[in-house]
Amino acid sequence: MADMISTHAAAPVIIRRLDYRPPDWLVPDVTLDFDLDPALTKVRATLSVTRNGDHDRPLRLDGEGIVPLAVCVDGRPLAQDEWHLEAGALIIALPDSAHSVETLVELSPEGNSKLMGLYASGGLLCTQCEAEGFRRITFFPDRPDILSRYSVRMEADKARFPILLANGDPIEQGDLTGGRHWARWNDPFPKPCYLFALVAGDLACNADRFVTMSGREVALGIWVREADIARTDHAMQALKNSMAWDERVYGREYDLDVFNIVAVADFNFGAMENKGLNIFNSRYILADPETATDIDYDGVEGVVAHEYFHNWSGNRVTCRDWFQLSLKEGFTVFRDQNFSADMGSHAVKRIEDVRILRAGQFQEDSGPLAHPVRPESYMEISNFYTATIYNKGAELIRMMALMLGAERFRAGTDLYFDRHDGEAATCEDFVLAMEEGGGIDLTQFRLWYEQAGTPHVRALVTHDPVSQSVELTLDQTMPPTPGQVDKQPMAIPLRTALFDPASGEHRGDELLMLTEGRQSFTFTSFPAAPILSINRGFSAPVIVETNRSQADLAFLSAHDDDPFARYEAMQQLMVNVLVGRIAGHATDDADVVDAVRNIITDPLLDPAFVAEAIRLPSEAYLGDQMRLVDPDAIHAARDALQQQIGAALEPFWRDIHARTKANAFSLSPAAKGARKLRNAALHYLVASGAQDGPAIAFAQFSEADNMTERQAALGTLANGASPEREAALDIFYNRYAADALTLDKWFQTQAFALHPDTVELVAQLSEHKDFTLANPNRVRSLFGAFAGNQWGFHHKSGKGYRLLADCIIALDRLNPQTAAKLVPPLGRWKRFEEGRAALMRAELQRILAQSGLSKDVTEQAGKSLE
Ligand code: ARG
Ligand code: ZN
Repeated sequence: MADMISTHAAAPVIIRRLDYRPPDWLVPDVTLDFDLDPALTKVRATLSVTRNGDHDRPLRLDGEGIVPLAVCVDGRPLAQDEWHLEAGALIIALPDSAHSVETLVELSPEGNSKLMGLYASGGLLCTQCEAEGFRRITFFPDRPDILSRYSVRMEADKARFPILLANGDPIEQGDLTGGRHWARWNDPFPKPCYLFALVAGDLACNADRFVTMSGREVALGIWVREADIARTDHAMQALKNSMAWDERVYGREYDLDVFNIVAVADFNFGAMENKGLNIFNSRYILADPETATDIDYDGVEGVVAHEYFHNWSGNRVTCRDWFQLSLKEGFTVFRDQNFSADMGSHAVKRIEDVRILRAGQFQEDSGPLAHPVRPESYMEISNFYTATIYNKGAELIRMMALMLGAERFRAGTDLYFDRHDGEAATCEDFVLAMEEGGGIDLTQFRLWYEQAGTPHVRALVTHDPVSQSVELTLDQTMPPTPGQVDKQPMAIPLRTALFDPASGEHRGDELLMLTEGRQSFTFTSFPAAPILSINRGFSAPVIVETNRSQADLAFLSAHDDDPFARYEAMQQLMVNVLVGRIAGHATDDADVVDAVRNIITDPLLDPAFVAEAIRLPSEAYLGDQMRLVDPDAIHAARDALQQQIGAALEPFWRDIHARTKANAFSLSPAAKGARKLRNAALHYLVASGAQDGPAIAFAQFSEADNMTERQAALGTLANGASPEREAALDIFYNRYAADALTLDKWFQTQAFALHPDTVELVAQLSEHKDFTLANPNRVRSLFGAFAGNQWGFHHKSGKGYRLLADCIIALDRLNPQTAAKLVPPLGRWKRFEEGRAALMRAELQRILAQSGLSKDVTEQAGKSLE
């Protein structure tokens, strides 16, 4: 009976930020010995442990899914009653203040479907330890504030695993009997165990070199399957550019003699910054014109940079506990965003980043899973690798950088790195360094770390012709979020300019600080009412409402010298028309058509910017503007406006599409911009309903010398019902079925399609022979994409909800972390009418009723119902 009860999962434990206590024991040195085999790997760990402070608490080593086959202390094997397990952890009472503790465990990498710890992927053995995967490899105090020096020995079959890699520097290697071999790697930098990594496999290397600013030579290696080696050059160039950029912009130099990157096919996330041995989802390493779009190329560049930058923001200075996750992630996203902007266009990169923030983070911040950038509690930390921690976290750093200015911000980061090098720090430490290094008071600004939810700012301009003065009244409200009802006003930096409608100019951009609930700013000597340009460059991650007319927005869309504000004026113009129509008003599209015409005929504009500026807001973004989302009305209104813009400007679309054709593949900004604009023109041309639209799309699909144009044409066709749709999908499948990353695009394009049968199609695709729950990229391509397709997913029948819930339930048994990431779309039920809302809740309840549900999915589904 006792046994039966103990098989029930214990009530999930909630971890709280304020419960943080320094560790009882430290682990200055670790020696690991791996006897590697996909079916059964033996891990022997020797930990030097030292008592931290004056206490008599036992040593507690976390463990998950492992049992000790042997435990020794100072070389003496312990008897069974000298240790015990408590919730997976190994507890040993130790008499003195320093000991050597040795454990032996066995595990099965190929049986590890969670892809956390040591697992097998495509014939390789690799690890993923962040956040709490190391405890699945060996018994260890698995928390980021314990920094240890690692020495790692691996042995394996030499034919199957000729390459053996770990963190740090290679020390020695040799052959053994029975076709086996071994290698030893030492990492001289103390690190938390979440940065541990090893890889064993039959890998080819793209090898290169980088000379650091102090003249040290670093050996660079990108390791992939032999067949993929030709697809690694872009990643290598990105790595070298990142290393040079971090020296130039932050004064940060690389610190080891080798830097290796390995690409693996099965990976829960984008990539991982393990010290000296980054492990990547292959989709962020491999790229060639035949299979990668320009977005993919940019993704490779951005993620390679992101992981490289972690060497300082994350590894040299790490996090004290997981509540501080944004300390490394927000800062590192900010760094990779600025790097990518420097490599390409600042204007376009900012627009793209804001689009991502609004699509992912604003939605999160207004729903049941909203949490502060520095959360107060969690059940499963993997659920907190969110858009809020990453993208809103980056916006917080960006606001501080803006308020300080470039020089003082650099003084702040220098102080931060110098002061905390080799330490596990907190978000508060970062803010303190900004205050001291930059000479600024951030007392009120700290609320950005504490209060969840997106601030709403209302901006009202009034003009008095008699006194020739302008009054700008700003007020802010903070919406309630789970667990936070009453909120204080935030410190919101708003870059602002007032345009003179006659001259089309302004008198300079000012940084206004909104710090109170309501505040007024007065400007003098304005004979005529000016037009307000506010939150320029998206200086703060807030929602701004203004009393600007469609004519004001049209003016800004033509004249604003801040590219983001110009884009924003276009978006707002379109949103106003669409939201009006969805509400049943007969709004005129003439302003929108004129504004689009203006943009596409302005010869001075960068084509990549043009493509962004004329893009209609997504259906999901329109949904976010409404209290109750009506997916069918949104789709119909957006589709109609697209058709009108398409038809009204048809000759322009034809002209742009034809003139951007002769563009032999290159990754120059000009070539990329031309492709982006060409795809936008094709999209409007097909949307116009022109008879030859599908044929033109099919020709682009067939003739393209690159994936950017081919996939865009496929996507455009997939939205329609032409015979070309089926033909192109078949051709694409047959051409790429053997290449997993490209086949993902085939699944994704269909799941994203704005087509009435998408929900049925996704059901069929989930039974396709090439669909598998074992590969996270494939799951995200089909179900992640589908859940982001508002019109398809929110099919009135509830079929979409059932499909997603079925997937979550099945996947949870294999890979809870990836399953839990699919839950949030079901949690938007409060934003839908009662019919859909009830269907969504029913699926969440069905998920929660499953026995043996992971704590990952339990937390997400449970919170989503509240
Ligand atoms: N630190 C990694 C990155 O952002 C992500 C690791 C994600 N791990 C996880 N268990 N969710 O670069
Ligand atoms: Zn990161």
